[in-house]
Amino acid sequence: MARYPEDVDRWREAGRISARARAVGVRALRPGRSRREVAEVIEASIRGDGALPAFPANLSRNFEAAHYTPSPSDALAFEAGDLVKVDVGAHLDGAISDTAETVEVGGTHQYENLIRATQDAVRAGIAQVRAGVPIDQISRAIESAIHARGFKPVSNLTGHTIQRYLLHAGKSIPNVSGATGETLEEGEIVAIEPFATNGAGSIENGSFGHIVRFRRDPGAGEPELSALFQRFRTLPFTARWVTDAAQRTALTQGRRFLQTYPVFVESGGGWVSQAEHTVLVGPTSAEILTELRE
Ligand code: CO
Repeated sequence: MARYPEDVDRWREAGRISARARAVGVRALRPGRSRREVAEVIEASIRGDGALPAFPANLSRNFEAAHYTPSPSDALAFEAGDLVKVDVGAHLDGAISDTAETVEVGGTHQYENLIRATQDAVRAGIAQVRAGVPIDQISRAIESAIHARGFKPVSNLTGHTIQRYLLHAGKSIPNVSGATGETLEEGEIVAIEPFATNGAGSIENGSFGHIVRFRRDPGAGEPELSALFQRFRTLPFTARWVTDAAQRTALTQGRRFLQTYPVFVESGGGWVSQAEHTVLVGPTSAEILTELRE
């Protein structure tokens, strides 16, 4: 049974918008640029194209694999040699795209092979996508592409299906084989996102990465938080987006209503690369929604 979203063109447009924002982020990553400034230009690109960020721009660095976004007071500047995962998402009325690229800041070329490992892996994985494909076939293609470059896939991070307003909709696309017996259906939207490392091959929770999400509506007794819930619903957001002083204070005190995301760090302290595209599952192949087109 095909299950295309009825507004499939809106998903395509969200894909183009996040691809452009990803490219804006990649170009902005220069030594000396602040992490906050880069996140802001990415998110401004999404808003300028008429969409909203589906989650705060993730700019995880080196042994951080994912889920770091700058805080309002983040003062860090990128340095030559930093390995940065630019992971961005846009949504149009809940039609979400999710895409990532890894950049070695300053063109130092120490981690070119690690970057290529996930570029190869995302292409190899996407090449397997079609209606009815066992997900394990995709996982196996990803895993062998990463092994072929001499690295390990991160075993406990996965790609995922996406539904309206739901970034992680149920099915996982593991980056190692033998982990799932599920299949993909025609019309599903899927983020394929391999991570590769020269470390242990797994991630663990680090410190708070400044990304939060409401678990539920805080209700009328919490007017500041309730206003924020009306704005973000259950999508991830960050304090940088909250400029109202009373709301920002409420946010720091309202943790019981919020899921807080830790940064994912490589368990062995290894450095991590990532590549990601959102695709639409077609009858015989995948349509890549987040490919950059001029
Ligand atoms: Co994703």
